[in-house]
Amino acid sequence: MKSNKIISSLVAASILISGVFAAAAKKPIDENQLGMRSSDLYSEVNAKPDGTNYNKDAAGTSKRIQRAYPDAPPMIPHDISDFGEITKDNNACLGCHMPDVATGVQATPIPQSHFTSFRPNVALDTNGRFVEVGNDKVVKTDLKGALWQGRFNCTQCHAPQHQGKLRVENKFKKDCLDPVGRKYEKKSYLMDHLEIGVKAGNGL
Ligand code: HEC
Ligand code: HEC
Repeated sequence: MKSNKIISSLVAASILISGVFAAAAKKPIDENQLGMRSSDLYSEVNAKPDGTNYNKDAAGTSKRIQRAYPDAPPMIPHDISDFGEITKDNNACLGCHMPDVATGVQATPIPQSHFTSFRPNVALDTNGRFVEVGNDKVVKTDLKGALWQGRFNCTQCHAPQHQGKLRVENKFKKDCLDPVGRKYEKKSYLMDHLEIGVKAGNGL
């Protein structure tokens, strides 16, 4: 009885599978429909990118974007297209985000982490190679309000965000928490827990 049942279900399954193959064979998928751009895969001529649509609200009128995980660099919510190129000596971002002006214009002040050098102390060893001195400790040199020049290029880490529909949704889920459960969506606490790090959210 049992084996009969198995045989009949195998027969049913193979009929079903061959049916599916038959249907697939009837309707071949055009290779231009395989990619997301729906055009000739062998030519770039008609492959237009979707383009980006950054927020055009001027600084001071935009809405801050929630941070995706603790200590994430906040995304730039306002238009930056008129601020010119950022160079080491000319940086429009500082005009509003330096702590002494930021509160006045309601911009988020640049945090203490950006006024700190984390470069380890190095020395030349006998083979002429640079080696770290300091026992693997986190090195924090307070630059007393001067921006650490490793951070001068703000848009290297802070980026504007595309508004509207995405071809591929971002399914990122954070897997870490603030160590003492503080809310991280609008604020960072990097300097408080630099040495202990963030807490893994999966309980490990
Ligand atoms: C004219 C003043 C001004 C200038 C110049 C400016 N910002 Fe802003 N920025 C603001 C204000 C004000 C906010 C708060 C949101 C708002 O009101 O639009 C803000 C918000 C931000 C935020 C989000 C902070 C958070 O807490 O989420 C980032 C990141 C940022 N700006 C980066 C930059 C960068 C990078 C530049 C240079 C390319 C720049 N800003 C230039 C005024 C300015
Ligand atoms: C090397 C990457 C990097 C660069 C370059 C950088 N930032 Fe950041 N920024 C971060 C990260 C990561 C955070 C969040 C952790 C922290 O507070 O340090 C942050 C946080 C911030 C915040 C939010 C502070 C808060 O209290 O919530 C502001 C404002 C900001 N940066 C502005 C700037 C500006 C303006 C520049 C250019 C002068 C800049 N950043 C350059 C990585 C960077």
